[in-house]
Amino acid sequence: MALELVDAGLQRPGGEYRFLVAEHAGQVLGYACHGAAPMTDGVHDLYWIAVAPEAHGRGIGRALMDAVEQAVRGSGGRMLLIETASKPSYEDTRGFYERAGYSELARIRDYYCVGDDKVIYGKRLARVQA
Ligand SMILES: CC(C)(COP(=O)(O)OP(=O)(O)OC[C@H]1O[C@@H](n2cnc3c(N)ncnc32)[C@H](O)[C@@H]1OP(=O)(O)O)[C@@H](O)C(=O)NCCC(=O)NCCS
Repeated sequence: MALELVDAGLQRPGGEYRFLVAEHAGQVLGYACHGAAPMTDGVHDLYWIAVAPEAHGRGIGRALMDAVEQAVRGSGGRMLLIETASKPSYEDTRGFYERAGYSELARIRDYYCVGDDKVIYGKRLARVQA
C-alpha cells in the first residue's frame, strides 16, 4: 500500500497525493503522504507516514507530522484526519498520533477483519489568515 501510493504520486505529479520526505546525507529516512479530501472545505487526509525502522524514536516522525500540518494549513486546510487499525501491532502508531495531539473521532468495529477496527483520528488546525 505504501509503495502503491508512491507509484501513484510519481505517475501523477501535481495530483491529489502530496509527499514530504525526510532525508539525511542523501538517505531517505521517512515520508508522509497526504491530500485534500474531495467534497470538503479544508479537510485533509494523512494517507501514510513511515520512518525507517533504524531511525525510529529520533523525532523524524514528529518532524514529518509538523511539516504535513504546516502544508495543510498553508493550503487553507482546517482539519487533518488519519485512519488506522485497532490491532495490537498498531499500538505504537496510535500512541504516536495521540502524542501529536490527535484524538479518536470515530471507530468502525470489525472493519479490517473481525476484531480489527478502523479508527479515525483527527485534529483541528488553526487556519492561516490570508
Ligand atoms: C509511527 C512512526 C511514523 C513514528 O515515527 P518516529 O520517528 O519513530 O517518531 P518520533 O521519534 O518522531 O516520536 C514523536 C513523538 O511520538 C512519541 N511516540 C513514538 N512512539 C510512541 C508510542 N509507541 N507511544 C507513545 N508515544 C510515542 C515519542 O515519544 C515522541 O513524543 P515527544 O516528541 O513528545 O517526546 C514510526 O514508528 C513508523 O514508521 N511506524 C511504522 C509505520 C506505520 O505504522 N505508519 C502508520 C500507518 S497507519
